[in-house]
Amino acid sequence: MKGLILSGGKGTRLRPLTHTRAKQLIPVANEPVLFRVIRAIRDAGITEIGIVVGDTEPEIREAVGDGSRWGVAITYIRQSAPAGLAHAVKESLPFIGDDRFVMFLGDNVIQGGISPLIRQFAESSWNSQIVLKRVPNPSSFGVAELNADGSIKRLIEKPKNPPSDLALVGIYMFDQHIREAVHAIQPSGRGELEITDAIQWLVTQGYAVHPYVHEGWWIDTGKGVDMLTANDHVLEELKPTIAGTVDAASSVDPRVTVEAGAEIINSIVRGPTIIGEGARIVNSYVGPFTSIYHHVVIENSEIEHAIVLEHTQILNVGARIQDSLIGREAIVQHTVRRPATLQMHLGDYSQVDLP
Ligand code: DAU
Repeated sequence: MKGLILSGGKGTRLRPLTHTRAKQLIPVANEPVLFRVIRAIRDAGITEIGIVVGDTEPEIREAVGDGSRWGVAITYIRQSAPAGLAHAVKESLPFIGDDRFVMFLGDNVIQGGISPLIRQFAESSWNSQIVLKRVPNPSSFGVAELNADGSIKRLIEKPKNPPSDLALVGIYMFDQHIREAVHAIQPSGRGELEITDAIQWLVTQGYAVHPYVHEGWWIDTGKGVDMLTANDHVLEELKPTIAGTVDAASSVDPRVTVEAGAEIINSIVRGPTIIGEGARIVNSYVGPFTSIYHHVVIENSEIEHAIVLEHTQILNVGARIQDSLIGREAIVQHTVRRPATLQMHLGDYSQVDLP
């Protein structure tokens, strides 16, 4: 069995962070979402993985490399245009050959433990397996309607009036019949070749498509604020370790991970929280559900429920920063000068909420 990860497309919903970075590389609990996807596929025993890339190919190649770090071999597949998930499959057919494969959307974060599901498909005679999850907002996703016996009645992409609350999770398993399906379908109303339509085609032709309803959490990080929610979930799953240094004046609770080279000085850190490599937390408070990425400096400040990306500095900020997503190399600081104005150099699409 092979793995196919979709990491092309445009991340417009996560702006401004994705103006300058592929959305699949934004870290959750200090690990890029794409790396987590690679690990999930590897843990199912798959070692040949194709990654579909678009304009952000150089950045993704640089971050992921050849896969040897995870013990897998990565093949990059350049999609000619972001023309839909089924289009991505079509352009990956030379890589897939006649193998069964699992396709994973590179921006989906799902609760661990899905490898048995992938292995089960590898050994089954099903032509396809899809993963469903009950959600409160089904019109934002592909939606499945099931028959009374649990089999699939029909699948529709982002319906205005959803017939059920079962969303298609971005994990799909196929055999070689998907080849015929992606050639048979036509572009949707939004001009994309939809994987949902390709799977509907399999159902209509009488192929065995098995629906699995996932009970754990699942987040599509392409959908904006969900990044913080994904971060909450993944932090709760982390097994804490302390590889950096914590001085005697600091208090760090047992649910905190301190990565190598990080320093906690005269500070309070409450978990679940992760402090990245080479970060410095000085005279500060870092509260629960916070991911501080590598080489961030926090001095004389308070922060909780937030993601702070690499090399950012938060200095002498009097108010507690909360529910925030702060990009790379940013500086948030309190300065004493006259007139006492708010001074900002914000990137496009940034948002600042003042009390
Ligand atoms: O997250 C689950 C949902 O993913 C499903 O419920 C929907 O049925 C499915 O269509 C998809 O919807 P999205 O609108 O969330 O898809 P998005 O455009 O965000 O693309 C998902 C991933 O695939 C993302 O990592 C980018 C990549 N991609 C996307 C397109 C359109 C490609 O690699 N190539 C593409 O052409």
